[in-house]
Amino acid sequence: MIEKLNKIREKAKIEITESNDEQSVLKVKSTYLGKESEISEVMKQLKDLSIDEKKIIGKLSNEIKNEISDLIKEKLDVIEAKSSKKVSFDHTLPVDKDTGSLHPVTVVAEEVVSILKKMGFIIVTGPEMENEYYNFEGLNVAKNHPARDMQDTYWLENGKLLRTHTSPCQVRAMEKYGAPLRIVAPGRCFRNEDLDASHENTFFQLEGMVIDKEVSINNLIYVMKNILKDIYNKDVEVRLRPGFFPFVEPGFELDIKCLICDGKGCPTCKGSGWVELCPCGMVHPKVLEYSGIDPNVYSGFAFGIGLTRMAMFKYNIADIRVLNSGNINSLKQTGIE
Ligand code: DAH
Repeated sequence: MIEKLNKIREKAKIEITESNDEQSVLKVKSTYLGKESEISEVMKQLKDLSIDEKKIIGKLSNEIKNEISDLIKEKLDVIEAKSSKKVSFDHTLPVDKDTGSLHPVTVVAEEVVSILKKMGFIIVTGPEMENEYYNFEGLNVAKNHPARDMQDTYWLENGKLLRTHTSPCQVRAMEKYGAPLRIVAPGRCFRNEDLDASHENTFFQLEGMVIDKEVSINNLIYVMKNILKDIYNKDVEVRLRPGFFPFVEPGFELDIKCLICDGKGCPTCKGSGWVELCPCGMVHPKVLEYSGIDPNVYSGFAFGIGLTRMAMFKYNIADIRVLNSGNINSLKQTGIE
């Protein structure tokens, strides 16, 4: 019996050590200290033993029970302490004078997103470390397609890449939700650019996509004009020029009539009267097909707004590098509260 009790003690100790959550510790407790436990069985047999044996076995059983019970209590305390690590943040303390502000890119992103949300678009996101398929093939950019050269890509050792645009969010959303679909996806993108006042290796885009039955270029123009009207508080004239992107057909560059000179020609629009705003187009049937949407039933349009450029335009920021610099004094000059 002594041997049996010692074995129980060792087994219980191991099980307590190996239990790392409250539930499993409580299970060990009921196994070793409950009414049906092996120790209880031993205690029940005490009545058949001699007085001397009773003394020894009874004492040992109680010792082991107490030991197990102490170990269980200790373990439960440790688990509780771990789960209730308190964050010391006192929200009643007075604030520092310099409370900071939203980043210019965040401000324009929120503006565009809130307009699109009113039109029934849902916000989606995608990973910044992206699979080659979503960044290229799913968008009809095959392995050796020259269009890949337009986006100097950071490849990672794990075979993935830093996404070069927000367009992979189109593919992910089509796969996840199917058609019909209205999504907006703001996010950070990366390209291996030589840095200067207008080029950064890290920048922000906002992708939009609509898929439904009988979607046409008119719908695309309508949505773009609505966004611009809300942002600039007046009707803005737009025009489409042909532009090539493998994932749209036809593809366009959408220009807006220069808001500074009203189309007469000025330094901002380099005398042309028009300012390039964003590439867009009708979703290529192959792109729909790759994501399981039947191009004979559905059509769609997509656009990619350069949020970084938009923020620079809105806040008159001449050097793109300011935006990622973390230089609060420069960012403060935007006047964002
Ligand atoms: N992803 C493209 C780029 O970064 C921009 C773009 C072009 C997005 C056309 C679109 C589109 O949604 O329809 O160069």
